Amino acid sequence: MDSESKTAMDWDQHYQDKHTPWDKGSPAPPLLEWIAANPDTLSGRILVPGCGGGHDVRALAATGIEDVLGFDISPAAITEAKSHEAAGSETYKAGDLFDLSEGMLDSFDWIWEHTCYCAIDPSMRDEYVKSAWETLRQNAQFLGVFYLNPYDDEHQPSGGPPHGTTEDEIRQRFEGSRKFKIIESYQPQQSYSGREGLEVVLRMRRLG
Ligand SMILES: C[S@@+](CC[C@H](N)C(=O)[O-])C[C@H]1O[C@@H](n2cnc3c(N)ncnc32)[C@H](O)[C@@H]1O
Repeated sequence: MDSESKTAMDWDQHYQDKHTPWDKGSPAPPLLEWIAANPDTLSGRILVPGCGGGHDVRALAATGIEDVLGFDISPAAITEAKSHEAAGSETYKAGDLFDLSEGMLDSFDWIWEHTCYCAIDPSMRDEYVKSAWETLRQNAQFLGVFYLNPYDDEHQPSGGPPHGTTEDEIRQRFEGSRKFKIIESYQPQQSYSGREGLEVVLRMRRLG
């Protein structure tokens, strides 16, 4: 991702320009790993926030889950996602996770998170936790792979997204809010090239 501040980060322009280096052209390996290890566990209505071109949405729909919604602030990303051959009955919607419409609230049984959390400015992380909680139904679950350390020689902290984090910070934000209880946490064995050892998978239950 480019070195841009939160306010300057125009996600839609990136998709219009087809400048999307985060898009690896395939679903997140930790998602495929989790599905293989937990067959028939995901069910009901699933939300994929910041779905981009929708690779993860289609991977979820391909398992036979009928109600998977890819959601992204970029209309161009949604157009691109829709241009792919459908894997099942997945749907897509353009919108802002921080300005949710009524139909998005209290509506989902699972969230699958992948590189949406690291894309938003760290100052918005508590808002992210609140929005995720609001979209989920009682007892619903949040499953995500978090990119802990995305920094390299060219991209350093405060250089715009992706923004790093730690498992401790995620625990404090999600459990400290008393909105979620973490029930599973591990380092995935399968990652995109270059992300090996830099991610953690967390599964949580919505509280309240
Ligand atoms: C780093 S990209 C990852 C996209 C996709 N998960 C992938 O791995 O290809 C982050 C995505 O989050 C979306 N996004 C950023 N802020 C958002 C918001 N407030 N609400 C919904 N989507 C958002 C961007 O448009 C972008 O598609």
